[in-house]
Amino acid sequence: MQKLKIKGGISLSGEVDISGSKNAALPIIASSILSSSCLKISNIPKLHDVSTMIELLETMGASFTNQGDYCLKIEANNLNNHIAPYHLVKTMRASILVLGPLLARYGKARVSLPGGCAIGARPVNLHIDGLRKMGADIQIKEGYIDAKVNRLKGAKIFLNPITVTGTANLMMAATLAEGKTIIENAAIEPEIVNLGECLQSMGAKIGGLGTRVMSIEGVDYLGEADHEVIPDRIEAATFLIAACVTKGSLRVNRVRIDHLDSVIDLLKRAGATISFDENHIDISLKGAIKPIDFTTNPYPGVPTDVQAQFMVLNVLAEGDSKIIETIFENRLMHVLELQRMGASINLDKNTAYVKGVRKLSAAPVMATDLRASAALVLAGLAAKGETIIDRIYHIDRGYEEIDQKLFQLGAKVLRLDS
Ligand code: EPU
Repeated sequence: MQKLKIKGGISLSGEVDISGSKNAALPIIASSILSSSCLKISNIPKLHDVSTMIELLETMGASFTNQGDYCLKIEANNLNNHIAPYHLVKTMRASILVLGPLLARYGKARVSLPGGCAIGARPVNLHIDGLRKMGADIQIKEGYIDAKVNRLKGAKIFLNPITVTGTANLMMAATLAEGKTIIENAAIEPEIVNLGECLQSMGAKIGGLGTRVMSIEGVDYLGEADHEVIPDRIEAATFLIAACVTKGSLRVNRVRIDHLDSVIDLLKRAGATISFDENHIDISLKGAIKPIDFTTNPYPGVPTDVQAQFMVLNVLAEGDSKIIETIFENRLMHVLELQRMGASINLDKNTAYVKGVRKLSAAPVMATDLRASAALVLAGLAAKGETIIDRIYHIDRGYEEIDQKLFQLGAKVLRLDS
């Protein structure tokens, strides 16, 4: 199992390019199942989760052709197998995203139930209920979701709570259903809009994309499309925070600034100096870090996917702060590891009370999930001494070459094979 060794205390400087969004690329790759032709996708990040999604579609009979470094052509027009097996789903919950497309296009799907996860229970009941409302016959047998239907029918579906992959699954299913589907309380994350735009280029009729009420008029088939994945706003936020925790100065390139409003607001409140152009952000933070209270929320609120990273900023601040996690019930596992590095944090259910200690000390720590690992990397960059982070396979799921990107910014980061 690989580890990361970070010698902290160095201010980062220079420029970094942000990769394509993991959480946009995954559903967009799954959407190729809906096409009767082929789908060309550019700006696909090189990540373990993306490789897992590709492997999953390949086991079903899809073919992938490289069209350049970050570009793939997918043909999924003649799938001969409709199973998402446990061994793939357990490594990546987003495998559930094939359920809606398989049912809509092939009338059958067998997808392993994802089960529990390091950040919470993460049920998929809303995906299943929505598809049942659209006429699917769904049984849960032997740990699998067994679904079949002649043709899905349009339905009115209300999602509570708002679910990102639930919205993606149902939106994809509705594109080939008979009649109109209304999705109320839909997710409006940029990744959902990016997926919706891809489906629209394939010929889907989707109204209200990016609003809480979506209206999808099913069509008989979807065709060819050429689509670009948006930049990863969570990777961008992680590098912006990295500049601040190391009191450095960075230019973060290839970003969508309009996707980062809540993040930029928090960074400014913490004392960062920020300026931006069309697709880059310049950031620096000199002097004391100010503590920031925040609560995670669905987009356009503060993303749960940056909660752990912002916690590191608060740990290094002068003063106290309060962080409330509202999306997942168990997404504060990084607190225990940060405490081992000298952080002073008290937990009360889903609220973290952080006492700014201004500095951290290096320690051996263990990554528990993707964003917790990113937080530990940030803590390691800020801490005096040598931090060793174990189980970094979590970080490779969602950050493309993070060690190399940090190295180019002056960080002393080394990947160790243990
Ligand atoms: N929920 C239900 N029932 C459902 C679905 C969701 O109760 O059927 C609940 C969840 O338990 C959770 C809340 O709804 O409390 C929101 O979960 P959501 O379904 O939106 O999460 P997700 O779609 O499984 C995606 C991202 C996550 C990100 C969340 C929230 C992908 C592949 N994953 O997960 O990304 O944290 O939305 O924004 O898009 C990450 O990248 O590190 C990551 C975990």
